[in-house]
Amino acid sequence: MRKKIVAGNWKMNKDYTEGMSLFSEVINMVNDEVQGQQEVVVCAPFIHLYSLVALGKGSQKVFVGAQNCHQEEAGAYTGEISAGMLTSIGVQYVILGHSERRQYFGEDNALLAKKTDVALKNNLKPIFCIGETLDERESGKHFDIIKSQLAEATFHLSAADFSKLVIAYEPVWAIGTGVTASSEQAQEVHAFIRKEIAAKYGEAVAEATTILYGGSCNPKNAAELFAQADIDGGLIGGASLKSRDFLDIVKVFN
Ligand code: G3P
Repeated sequence: MRKKIVAGNWKMNKDYTEGMSLFSEVINMVNDEVQGQQEVVVCAPFIHLYSLVALGKGSQKVFVGAQNCHQEEAGAYTGEISAGMLTSIGVQYVILGHSERRQYFGEDNALLAKKTDVALKNNLKPIFCIGETLDERESGKHFDIIKSQLAEATFHLSAADFSKLVIAYEPVWAIGTGVTASSEQAQEVHAFIRKEIAAKYGEAVAEATTILYGGSCNPKNAAELFAQADIDGGLIGGASLKSRDFLDIVKVFN
């Protein structure tokens, strides 16, 4: 049985006080309301991470992630944060390949392959994001795009290392737009991703890989999405900024 995960991506939101308050609410609500084996990951801006790890210490259900890390281990990279720095404060996950970083910071598959390597080398669990733009979908290129994003950044890994990844399918046209992929659209792509993983690494690795959906997932549509055979949870943006909404999504797996 592959892991069910609901991860919140706060993006560039919440000052220190707001972040502590939100995370404390999430921890308490998870303790009080979560009955299943689902895992909760909160991926917050760097300023929060040390304190979130401290607040979440001892929790078997809530884990802390970063939203990025640099591709080098150390050096003259002003303003950057390394994977080793993140694990040194107890961070367990890192989002890589988010479409906003591909769009605004020019992160391509070759760079993301390096980031994946350094994250794994430093014992971070990557949540690796792939997904097509509206133009790519409307021109029927979405499967080719998704296949190349996955293969060029992760298929150099050994089966053992690939098995440490969480994959997140985030159609760019659904991110922050309120336009969610239908459960049929999402399932079709998730099944395609799993088939590609099986072709590369075999059925066992493919079946064990957690594949999350991201893109305007909310308490109203989460249950239908997560009921799909190849959707193992969500990577949640806007709805993760309100503890009640986020927990209502997490509780789908109760
Ligand atoms: O990483 C998750 C994010 O891209 C989805 O954002 O606001 O559409 O849930 P949102």
